[in-house]
Amino acid sequence: MRLLRFIILLCFACGWRVAAAPLSFDATAGERRTMTAPDGRTVPYTAYENIFYITEVEDSTYQTINIFIPDGADGNTPIFLKTNVGGYMASAASQVRSGDVTGRALAEGYVVAIPGCRGRNAVVTGPDGRRRYTGKAPAAILDLKAAVRYLRANDSRMPGNAERIVTDGTSAGGALSALLGATGNHPDYVPMLRAMGAADARDDIFAAVCFCPITDLEHADMSYEWLFSSANAQRRLSAAQTAVSEQLTRDFSAYLHELQIRDGDGAIVTESNYIDFIGDFILASAKQAVTAGATLPADAGFTVQDGRVTAFDVMRYLEWMAAAVRLKTPPAFDAMQVAGGRTTPENDLFGDSDGTPRHFTDFGLQQTSGDRDAHVPADMIARVRMMNPMGYIEDTAADTAPHWYIRHGSRDGDTAFTVPANLYAKLQANRYDVNFRIAWDRPHSGDYDLDELFAWLRQITAQDR
Ligand code: DHB
Repeated sequence: MRLLRFIILLCFACGWRVAAAPLSFDATAGERRTMTAPDGRTVPYTAYENIFYITEVEDSTYQTINIFIPDGADGNTPIFLKTNVGGYMASAASQVRSGDVTGRALAEGYVVAIPGCRGRNAVVTGPDGRRRYTGKAPAAILDLKAAVRYLRANDSRMPGNAERIVTDGTSAGGALSALLGATGNHPDYVPMLRAMGAADARDDIFAAVCFCPITDLEHADMSYEWLFSSANAQRRLSAAQTAVSEQLTRDFSAYLHELQIRDGDGAIVTESNYIDFIGDFILASAKQAVTAGATLPADAGFTVQDGRVTAFDVMRYLEWMAAAVRLKTPPAFDAMQVAGGRTTPENDLFGDSDGTPRHFTDFGLQQTSGDRDAHVPADMIARVRMMNPMGYIEDTAADTAPHWYIRHGSRDGDTAFTVPANLYAKLQANRYDVNFRIAWDRPHSGDYDLDELFAWLRQITAQDR
């Protein structure tokens, strides 16, 4: 190290320019700070901010990363990478906050990385004065992968172990965390990452923490109707919406067949026992809540005696839940002009760079074009694929994360809980370590039960050391 410094000084002394290696972490550029943890402890750390993680920056507002290194971190310290993405919107790199998961991670001694990334609303004005949207799918996952590559490329230049990167996100951010987990090093993303000037390094991660992931978007409409259509009377649907709901509910069965999910005994889950498969998650969640002192709703299918759940009618629960929790009208996601539907965040996400929203499912396209044989074009198929972790979990060209933590609230109506349940099932079938639970009485939200999350993180990082 001393010799290197001497050589650099010599170069300067001789007037030779030493260009900083591109994407090289500068350990001298940090700012010393302290954070007061919720328990009153003072946590000293060094903040490195506004670092571009690619060389061909398209959107300087978002394509940066902030890195926070607590005193005492070394080459073994895991890196907690938090994405703030919500609603598939752009999100800028932010600060650690004492009261949230990032502050908790810092207080636990993790190196905390908070990258920004482009999202569906990110826009730049070109030299010709034209506005161009930069963050339509799959931009966000490309940016986050580039941030992971930056951390890996700089593993030896900073504290923190890039082989122990844990990603965390909620909702659309949970979906991106799942994508980071599923798609490590997959060649689908490589040409675009190269064009962006991402570091030439691996982008697989160690663990993905996913709260209520809004994912599996091309199957999310059918999942939603399958789960919530029993409440169609309360949803006050038009005739056209009812027809759409019924068709999508039927389509879910075909999707289940495609998925080939296995239950805990290794048996293939079919339409007839899928209800039991998901009922088990609900029952486990409710039992845990009762043990913790919660009172279950009287008409939701549970029989509770002496403080224990003694019987469960899953069909009754699903009807109760659909009526209580449903939020969206059919179709829930690819809704643009379908049965009078509005443009959704997802139509916008898959929109064009001039801002025009697009259909991303054959069903949506067929509904609005009137052509029953219409299919989304090849460019859309590729973009949709790159936004869905489900297609990569059993793809041998992907280095999928070994550890997963997935949570979904029982009161979440933003997507059907069958979506995270299917993600769990696919991972489980492919022998990944998955900790999945329905969080009782939780709405669409994330980063809760942090004691539990960090106990799990301690366990997986200790066992894999
Ligand atoms: C989010 C919520 C949604 O209902 C949706 O369709 C997409 C994203 C979110 O909270 O990130």
